Amino acid sequence: MGFAGSDFISINDFSKADLEHVFKVADRMLPLARKGSSICKNKVLATLFYEPSTRTRLSFQTAMLRLGGRRIGFSSGAESSSMKGETIADTVRTIEQYSDIIVIRHPSEGAARVAADYASIPVINAGDGSHQHPTQTVLDLYTILKEKGKIKGLNVGLYGDLKYGRTVHSLLGTLGLFGANVFCVSPQGLEMPVHFVKEFKEKHGGDLVETSSLDTVLPQLDVLYATRIQKERFPDEKEFLKVKGTYSLDSFALSRAKDDLVLLHPLPRVDEISYELDADPRSRFFKQVFYGVPTRMALIALLLGKVK
Ligand code: NCD
Repeated sequence: MGFAGSDFISINDFSKADLEHVFKVADRMLPLARKGSSICKNKVLATLFYEPSTRTRLSFQTAMLRLGGRRIGFSSGAESSSMKGETIADTVRTIEQYSDIIVIRHPSEGAARVAADYASIPVINAGDGSHQHPTQTVLDLYTILKEKGKIKGLNVGLYGDLKYGRTVHSLLGTLGLFGANVFCVSPQGLEMPVHFVKEFKEKHGGDLVETSSLDTVLPQLDVLYATRIQKERFPDEKEFLKVKGTYSLDSFALSRAKDDLVLLHPLPRVDEISYELDADPRSRFFKQVFYGVPTRMALIALLLGKVK
């Protein structure tokens, strides 16, 4: 597809060839991710964040600065006129008067799609409720490619809160698309929603194992993608307390894993990965953070039509 002028809302809107093209452009951005460039000179990126964020918001802003553009935005709904009752539709039709591309994060599923329907400039979904986080998926896949050299045929474990985690919801299907075998490992009650599993099997016919025991599958894994419990998405506190602290990784747990395992996490971490594992060469989650810059540079430049 042609990226120029389009939105980036759901990962399902993009083919394998589209995503491979984004990775190719990200490769071109890699040296510029520190050095900077003037590819998007005089362009303005707006970050509309109605939910907390450290990496996604700041990496989008960094990406735009490294592309030579500028940025505006707010980092919580409380800073915006949504507090006065303004709708997303009116907010984006206002922001597009100031900017060339919008990145939006919102607690409601489907909010980014609404924003895209009303905006005449490209809109990027930076997370809508527990639904999707497609740019995280781009950087997750890119990290796997860079760290393992391929995705096809790898055994990838998705570990933790697979029920409410939007990163794993976006990632699952694309792992199928790229030919990985997936192991969904979650405590009882936090399993991957049935419709995502069904879709994976129907579309990709790939192997998908579901289990609550990491120990049994860990020795086979090439990549382990850990996630935190999405406390803020639980309908009630009691349900959260039932699963709180029920899983974590430490050196002992990882002693059964392959030596060349790649351990990823979209971050923030709470207690899923012990700090002692930070020194383990298999931990790549801060490298993963870095890959957020070239991949988001690629997406911004593509959607603005500044690269082909
Ligand atoms: C994730 C998110 O916001 O969904 N964070 C991120 O963007 N890297 C994961 C999370 O909050 O647990």
